Amino acid sequence: MGCRGLHLLIWVLSILCFACFCCCQFIPQDNYLINCGSPTNATVGNRVFVSDNSASKLLSTPQNVLASTSSKPVTSSKDSVLYQTARVFTGSSKYTFSIRQSDRHWIRLYLYPFVYDKYDMSKANFSVSSANHALLSDFSVNSYVVKEFSVNVTSSTLDVTFSPSGDSFAFVNALEVISVPNKLIADDASSISPPVVFQGLLWQALETVHRVNMGGPIITFENDTLWRTWVPDRSFLVEANLAKSVSNIPAVNYVEGGATPLIAPNTVYGTATMMNSENDPNSNFNVTWEFKVDPGFQYLVRFHFCDIVSRNLNQLYFNVFIDSWIAIRDLDLSTYLTNTLAGAYFMDVVTVKTVSNKIRISVGPSNLHDVYPNAILNGLEIMKMNNSQGSLSGPTAGTTSSSSKINVGMIVGVVIGVSVAAVLAGILFIICWRRRKLAAQGHTKTWIPLSTNGGNSHTMGSKYSNGTTTSIHSNLGYRFPFVAIQEATNNFDESWVIGIGGFGKVYKGELNDGTKVAVKRGNPRSQQGLAEFQTEIEMLSQFRHRHLVSLIGYCDEKNEMILIYEYMENGTLKGHLYGSGFPSLSWKQRLEVCIGAARGLHYLHTGYAKAVIHRDVKSANILLDENLMSKVADFGLSKTGPELDQTHVSTAVKGSFGYLDPEYFRRQQLTEKSDVYSFGVVLFEVLCARPVIDPSLPREMVNLAEWAMKWQKKGQLDQIIDSTLAGKIRPDSLRKFAETAEKCLADYGVDRPSMGDVLWNLEYALQLQEAVLQGDPEENSTNVIGELSPQVNNFNQDDNSFSASQADVSIADDLSGVSMSRVFSQLVKSEGR
Ligand SMILES: *[C@@H]1O[C@H](CO)[C@@H](O)[C@H](O)[C@H]1NC(C)=O
Ligand SMILES: *[C@@H]1O[C@H](CO)[C@@H](O)[C@H](O)[C@H]1NC(C)=O
Ligand SMILES: *[C@@H]1O[C@H](CO)[C@@H](O)[C@H](O)[C@H]1NC(C)=O
Ligand SMILES: *[C@@H]1O[C@H](CO)[C@@H](O)[C@H](O)[C@H]1NC(C)=O
Ligand SMILES: *[C@@H]1O[C@H](CO)[C@@H](O)[C@H](O)[C@H]1NC(C)=O
Ligand SMILES: *[C@@H]1O[C@H](CO)[C@@H](O)[C@H](O)[C@H]1NC(C)=O
Repeated sequence: MGCRGLHLLIWVLSILCFACFCCCQFIPQDNYLINCGSPTNATVGNRVFVSDNSASKLLSTPQNVLASTSSKPVTSSKDSVLYQTARVFTGSSKYTFSIRQSDRHWIRLYLYPFVYDKYDMSKANFSVSSANHALLSDFSVNSYVVKEFSVNVTSSTLDVTFSPSGDSFAFVNALEVISVPNKLIADDASSISPPVVFQGLLWQALETVHRVNMGGPIITFENDTLWRTWVPDRSFLVEANLAKSVSNIPAVNYVEGGATPLIAPNTVYGTATMMNSENDPNSNFNVTWEFKVDPGFQYLVRFHFCDIVSRNLNQLYFNVFIDSWIAIRDLDLSTYLTNTLAGAYFMDVVTVKTVSNKIRISVGPSNLHDVYPNAILNGLEIMKMNNSQGSLSGPTAGTTSSSSKINVGMIVGVVIGVSVAAVLAGILFIICWRRRKLAAQGHTKTWIPLSTNGGNSHTMGSKYSNGTTTSIHSNLGYRFPFVAIQEATNNFDESWVIGIGGFGKVYKGELNDGTKVAVKRGNPRSQQGLAEFQTEIEMLSQFRHRHLVSLIGYCDEKNEMILIYEYMENGTLKGHLYGSGFPSLSWKQRLEVCIGAARGLHYLHTGYAKAVIHRDVKSANILLDENLMSKVADFGLSKTGPELDQTHVSTAVKGSFGYLDPEYFRRQQLTEKSDVYSFGVVLFEVLCARPVIDPSLPREMVNLAEWAMKWQKKGQLDQIIDSTLAGKIRPDSLRKFAETAEKCLADYGVDRPSMGDVLWNLEYALQLQEAVLQGDPEENSTNVIGELSPQVNNFNQDDNSFSASQADVSIADDLSGVSMSRVFSQLVKSEGR
């Protein structure tokens, strides 16, 4: 209880901290603002750019020239004074800054070519490097530009080196080196291909190549929370007539878990570009922007969203694309910031290495929901990531002529496409960052058994884990080009087939990054197949869980219906039970496999607002990875459960013979308890290691469920168990297991346990088995089955009530695959600083 109090306190403190960060301005630890080539300091807004004469100890060589001009660029902010002087370098020179805090720093170069004496700066040709990264190479500039980079500085000094190319020269008008808020760039982001969590952003050098305010005016550094400049999006629109601007700045809400004013100011979130559908409810098109980039690099794309167009929650569902890749599928912003309309939110996506010199960003309506079609985007940042040599300089880096097209006839136009002023920043996205971190860790974390959890944190725990299940990754779907799949499967090599089902063939494959995959290729013509194909993509794109097979992508080119899954090294559970060469599993392994599958199903039933019913639970749909961890597969028949579908009636009874819930068969009422029934059959299958229907057997044995129940009712189930298990199951464990299976097969759904109860009972059966092995292996290794007690049929009431409360706790833990105790220890650690 004291523990819970502490958690609460920490929770409250974290919210206070959050609120406090929101209203405080960011004060950089290192803050060098240099007015180059000038004898005087220059004041721009509330910032002083210091003369590099008075700061001359920063500069390495005297071989340079002070240049000045009376002309100045027409900038929309008050920084033109910075451009009236420049320092010209005729040989390699560097500025050296001492760094108080090793962390990510911005480096901004202000460049405005003018003619001074014999130096025509538009003819200058030079390279700039810093912290082992080439920032610019053989760079020339023909109009005014601010280049913005950020690098993670790990030493106590930072050099910015200017090197003339050949016998040319270098120049710079002004220079900034400033600390970036620590958590501004998180280590991880989604990656569009392969669809995994991209990690390692902390080590990346970045260059901001575009920073755009959709549907609004230019925001200059004076009006940004972190001295950034956001340019309007009109000139980037591919078909401007398809897009419409909206503005509602006062509506913007900054809430916990979302963006903060430092991530982007409300003037960015409060305006958007949306579909210009002209009240046509059948509108179906994308709004597309096109941005110039250097080919051969990966880019970090940060999307800023804020639903300022809907009147109510859950009214806007849309897709977001980067080129032809789907970046975010079926985005419903209201699921991220619970019950907040117009909450500011952002998402980071890493692109593949670009081949072309443009990136297209599109948003378009999702057709999975019956709502008015619309799609929005509020802001966008595109950041170039360093290549494997650590370089940010592309072959064509630098010439800025193209960006001057921005001009829409206003002063605005002069601001070059690349952006001015400060970069990224924004602290307090710590919370959001932490969440992502946790969500990402969830993939690899092992579940901590319930016995180590207090059970106190239930309420808060489940709230938190609900939050983490809606991680950015949960909405991703991935569309693969057909050729990529041909390549991965050796052009559907027949010898690579690993399975054949009603849907089609399953091939083993390998993506070009080495990821092993299973490729399921549907028979093109079947109409039913198409519906199942779509259901499967929809389901698997929404649900991500350690015990559900994950979808890596799909392909619907050329009438193909291809699904690409993570590869499961050890095939199906069925294959390990009978009829194939796999070695048979021990009792403990079987229990663990059942527990994993039960977790996956439990998550389907409860992990989401609407329960999902799998409808085809069977041993052939439970797959095992290289560590024999089990995952539930094949969601083609899945249906959203009763909460949506009040009638519980489904059109046709579907599922697999032998596993089918008789109640569902009789009354055509579909509930989660139908999955529980099928799972009960699987449990008997696991125990007896025989097919659920075997017509070759004597009549009373044909149907496993009936036959096993007969023996279970007689209390002699041990007579029919898999012979390889004989003498190896602890009677208590067998009893618990058999009781659980029996309950699952109750005639009426209401009498069957929930998947959560099943899960706990299986856990318990495992503990009963383990307890003994730790005790006296000698004694128990022989003929333990013989000790099976006669009250095998009595479902122990004490056990049962114990299970109810404990199961809740374990369930809360398991919703996201993130253990509550881990969550709270994270909270304690990070808030305690
Ligand atoms: C410029 O500012 C620096 C630091 O604030 C100061 O030390 C220096 O004296 C100033 N130089 C001039 C010429 O005002
Ligand atoms: C800049 O210098 C490099 C190396 O001398 C040369 O290859 C390149 O063509 C020059 N670029 C321009 C625009 O003159
Ligand atoms: C910088 O890199 C170090 C590792 O070298 C990492 O621990 C740190 O978090 C990074 N900082 C930022 C702000 O990216
Ligand atoms: C931007 O800032 C300037 C000065 O700080 C102010 O006069 C102007 O109204 C601001 N513009 C907007 C759109 O907020
Ligand atoms: C939107 O763009 C994506 C990616 O190019 C494309 O796959 C999709 O079909 C487009 N949607 C519409 C409605 O044109
Ligand atoms: C960026 O450079 C670092 C070394 O500074 C390297 O470790 C990293 O892999 C590079 N990034 C990419 C995408 O190659």
